This record gives sequence, C-alpha cells and structure tokens, in this order.
Amino acid sequence: VKRRTFLSGTLAGGAMVAVGGCGNDVEPAPEIPGAVDDDPSSPTYGQVPIEIARVGPIGAAVTVRLQPPSDGRARPFRVPAGVLLIHRGAPADPPEWAALESTCTHAACPLGYSARDQLVECPCHASRFRTAPDPAVPGSCAGDVVHLPAKQGPPAYQVDLSGDGQTAYIVLTQVLGCKLLPPLTDGKVTLSLADQPQLANPGGSVIGTPQGFTDPIAVIRVDAATFAALDARCTHLGCTVAWDPGARHLQCPCHESAFALDGSVLAPPAVRPLRVYPVAFDGSAVVVTLV
Ligand code: FES
Ligand code: FES
Repeated sequence: VKRRTFLSGTLAGGAMVAVGGCGNDVEPAPEIPGAVDDDPSSPTYGQVPIEIARVGPIGAAVTVRLQPPSDGRARPFRVPAGVLLIHRGAPADPPEWAALESTCTHAACPLGYSARDQLVECPCHASRFRTAPDPAVPGSCAGDVVHLPAKQGPPAYQVDLSGDGQTAYIVLTQVLGCKLLPPLTDGKVTLSLADQPQLANPGGSVIGTPQGFTDPIAVIRVDAATFAALDARCTHLGCTVAWDPGARHLQCPCHESAFALDGSVLAPPAVRPLRVYPVAFDGSAVVVTLV
C-alpha cells in the first residue's frame, strides 16, 4: 500500500489560544494539530482526517491547526492555517459536522463556536457566521454573516465521516457556499457563455468557487476577445473581491483593498498580488486553467 504524504501541523494538541478583550462570552476554540493528505494518488487527497474523539460531544469544537505547504506545487486546494471543526446538532439527531476556516475576516481573531446559537462567533467583536444553511432563510449558506462587523464569512468546507464513524474528514476541495461554479476537470473549469450570460458583453464578470477547487475565482470579460481570470480571495484577510466595471479594477468589500487586472495591488491594506490564471476563449466558452 502506497504511503500517503501528509503535511503536518506543528502545534501541541490541546493548547488554548488566549485573546484579550471580549465582545461576547464565546472563547476561541482549543487547538489540535492536523495533517492534510498531500498524496495526489490517495483517495483522500486534500482531506484532513481528525479522530472524532479528539473533538468532543455535540456542541464541542476545535481549531485544527495546519501547516500550509511551501513547495509551490500546484494543488486543487489551499491549506489554511486553521480550520474550525464543529460537532453540531441536537442530542437526539444524527451527528452533524461543520468546518469553517478558523480566522475571522474582520480583524483576524481566532474563532469559536456557540453551541447555544449553533453559530460560529468571534470573541473579539462578536461577528457571527452560519455553520449551515438555515431552512427558515431561503438562499442562506454556510459561512454567511449573521452579525456584524465582519462583512463576509470565512470559507466553509464539507465534512465526510468514515464508514465506522470514528473519523471526520475536512474536505478542503469541497467548499460549501452560495456561489459555486461548474466542477474542475483536469485542472480546468469551463464557463460557457450560455450558462454565464454575465460574460456575454465586455465589462461583465463571474465570481464564484469551482466545485472541486478551494478558492473563489474572478473571470472578467475585458473586451470582445480578451478575458482575465484571477484568484478572487483577497490576500489581506481572505474576503472575496468584486469586479468594479466602472473603475475597471477588483475591489475588496472588507477593508477596501483594490487590485488591477494583472493582480497587482492598487490600494492597501493588502500587500500581496492576486494570482492570475491562464484563460482561453473559443467564442462560446471560457476555459480557465487552475491547476
Ligand atoms: S476580529 Fe472578528 S469581529 Fe473583529
Ligand atoms: S480582506 Fe481586508 S481588504 Fe480584503
């Protein structure tokens, strides 16, 4: 059996993060180390296995601390510094799991979980985020902001359980959200103009996360024959940027960073550019190469 390659966490298990100043009574989740399966031939490539016993009963949550890779190899997933893994649900119901990136998009505080409200909460300034769609709110999604000051929520990931129910797998390639694009095929995503009419005219744009990929992308029709494709995850604190057709640049709604079509930073607080992806257009569909 081929051994899987794991990107390992570095922190000691069970360490509690201390943060001064509280906007509510939720604490940052305790941390445990985790490791991403980084073997492309593995059936759980891009997944983080965690023994359920390490998380705790319904209502418990941990931050799984991860070590992002530094080798520059292209992957269909990004390894975040931490993922908040939540054992949610009601005692009488089947177990439910949720996973969101563990850093608040407002000012980068480590997040915690309110079992009472079944919401992710930020201990610093009380932002709250959904852990799952709310049946009472049509169109709601995991990661939605339900309380300010954060303007966007962190990405939410699918969680799979092993057959014996002993292990939860955080699937970094399966982001849950309201704006999903067609699936990744051979490292590419194809957007037909028939399905994406926003791209029919110059100045139009589509922003969303391809299924099987980890980050949102922005595809912009620059003129009749030219398209641009960029990573839409802001390099400041991870909010999704928007295309401003009037200013002809990408703007982040969270703290106003701006980026040019070549990815370069036009306005801080972001300092690193957005990644640019190769894009091709055959007259009826746009193909973006992501991996
Ligand atoms: S850092 Fe989370 S609400 Fe401010
Ligand atoms: S997340 Fe802060 S400017 Fe984008």
